[in-house]
Amino acid sequence: MSLSVLIVDDEENARQFLGELLATKSYNVIGVGTLGEAREHLMKGDADIVLLDIQLPDGYGPNLLYETSSMPGRPPIIMITGFGDIETAVDAMKNGAHDFLTKPVDFAQLEKSLQRAGEVVIMRRELDHYREAMSQKVDFVVGDSPRVKTVIAHALKAADAQVSVLITGETGTGKDILAQYIHASGPRAGKPFIAINCAAIQNTMLESELFGYEAGAFTSAERRKPGLMEVADGGILFLDEISSMSLDIQAKLLRAIEDQSFRRVGGTNLIKVDVQILAASNRDLPRMIRENQFREDLYYRLNIVDLNLPPLRERKEDIPELVGFFLRATNMRQGKNVTEVTPLAMEAMQRYDWPGNIRELSNAIERAVIFCDGKSVDLPDLPRDVTMHL
Ligand SMILES: Nc1ncnc2c1ncn2[C@@H]1O[C@H](COP(=O)(O)OP(=O)(O)OP(=O)(O)O)[C@@H](O)[C@H]1O
Ligand SMILES: [Mg+2]
Repeated sequence: MSLSVLIVDDEENARQFLGELLATKSYNVIGVGTLGEAREHLMKGDADIVLLDIQLPDGYGPNLLYETSSMPGRPPIIMITGFGDIETAVDAMKNGAHDFLTKPVDFAQLEKSLQRAGEVVIMRRELDHYREAMSQKVDFVVGDSPRVKTVIAHALKAADAQVSVLITGETGTGKDILAQYIHASGPRAGKPFIAINCAAIQNTMLESELFGYEAGAFTSAERRKPGLMEVADGGILFLDEISSMSLDIQAKLLRAIEDQSFRRVGGTNLIKVDVQILAASNRDLPRMIRENQFREDLYYRLNIVDLNLPPLRERKEDIPELVGFFLRATNMRQGKNVTEVTPLAMEAMQRYDWPGNIRELSNAIERAVIFCDGKSVDLPDLPRDVTMHL
């Protein structure tokens, strides 16, 4: 990886000399003569390391240190001070300079200093990368139920094979989070995950949302807009509540999926994409097919892998693990330490049918943690619906 060094020095000769030397060490060099230009480059984020002179025509070099002190990911700044100007050097170090070198610059020293700065830059990048990977981690609790174990095994295979998946299940069974899990587990993890809730968008808008439009395609289309299909290129498009999609958009979607290409609304160019489709529905699609409300061909196209999430009442053996998971999560958020559940409270949760499924359970635990004064969730901490049938 080659790093870019921004040289800020008003002396053209000095810039050129340093620049040529650094280029032989395979640094990319950007040379500027003023603080103003230096600021611009810092804002754009195109400098990895800065070499900064003290006296510049439009100001005092070290000012750049103060100005950027709270800038996230500020590049290491190496000050070039006049010989013997210890005070400025000390001051600069106090204000977060990475290093200082005295004029005339000794090239061996400069190289060492750049190398150390480069290590800092690379380490930061790795850290950012790692943070990003961590933040993409999706906690999908599997538990003991064989049905959900099978769902996850199939989900991982579908993620690997990058094929279309249809996720079905009642409300709150975890269709959204399963889609995210598939994204995070497969080769498209670093690529876009674009979710669209088809029920939340009018069908007249849905087409231009999905496929985008050209300027002038309709009255309010002043500028070309890419569709979500394009935004998701290389990654995954998650079509939530697909049952709400009208039949004519279903037909267009089918064609786009089969050809991996489409035209923007009002456009003639065929746009090629590589998109994996995940779709979710809490309605009975086969029945909608019988009633001519859903296209059978699209159904089979989406349903290459079908993942059915059972309602919580059919996977009650997973309740303890889910409860543990939501307790930990809520404790973290609320700064509390409720770690146990009394046997009676657990029995109430086991007996209840959870029509809102995992979402309802998660909310019940959140509420219980807020109400609970001790270490254990007890019966009175649970919502009345849950305890009523005990
Ligand atoms: N297996 C699981 N592990 C951890 N959390 C889960 C799991 N399943 C669901 N949840 C949590 O339950 C809540 C509801 O899940 P989600 O939104 O995925 O359900 P859904 O099936 O998409 O519901 P809807 O049909 O209403 O859109 C979310 O907060 C989600 O994080
Ligand atoms: Mg959902």
